[in-house]
Amino acid sequence: MPLMRLDKLLSQLGLATRSESRAICMSGRVRVNGSPPRTYSEKVNTDLDSITLDGKTLIYKQTRVFMMNKPEGVVSARTDGRDLTALDIMDETCRRLGLFPAGRLDKRTTGLLLMTNDGDLTHNIIMPSSGIVKKYSAKLLSPLPINAERLFAEGIVLSDGTRFKPALAEAADSTRMNVYVSVTEGKYHQVRRMLKSVGSPVADLKRLSIGGLVLDPALSPGEYRELDEQEISRIFEK
Ligand code: URA
Repeated sequence: MPLMRLDKLLSQLGLATRSESRAICMSGRVRVNGSPPRTYSEKVNTDLDSITLDGKTLIYKQTRVFMMNKPEGVVSARTDGRDLTALDIMDETCRRLGLFPAGRLDKRTTGLLLMTNDGDLTHNIIMPSSGIVKKYSAKLLSPLPINAERLFAEGIVLSDGTRFKPALAEAADSTRMNVYVSVTEGKYHQVRRMLKSVGSPVADLKRLSIGGLVLDPALSPGEYRELDEQEISRIFEK
């Protein structure tokens, strides 16, 4: 029988961290077969019990999530007529799991890419209202101007009118040729376009983290490994 603790169910669905899930379970927003749970550790049968959050039925399926250190030249897709995809470089067993990228990195960008079989989890990660911070390190072709931190904090506006939400730019060293950029949205070529707009085009871009989940330094470009439940919930840590 697929029995699972209620708090674990909520966190596995990506709705909250494990500790937030405990509070949600006891907040009156959750019903198990129409009744509020007695404890957050109550075991539910994910096939047979009706579990709702704010009146919406929760459907559980076993979530698989892998972190990959995406190499340059690989596209964030399942299939592509031209380029090698993130799924292409995974082994046969993984390729049978129905994985797809949870969010995108452009072809030239390296670093943390999540591959999962769970559409709801992906939605919860990429929807703009999630507010999940994605941190990048960039090598620049010209030093970051002195006013860039302020411009990023105010929200960059491009000459074509594109507006980005407030973001964090931090010089990584005194040359200002290496920077960290943290953003909460995922617009097309966002970090490259933001940095170019302040006069510092990007030479290399790498994603370091998504929420509280940091790219495992043991993974070389092209390598990947499965995340455990605790690591998955770190994605949603602010
Ligand atoms: N911003 C970019 O410019 N490229 C990425 O791949 C991700 C963020």
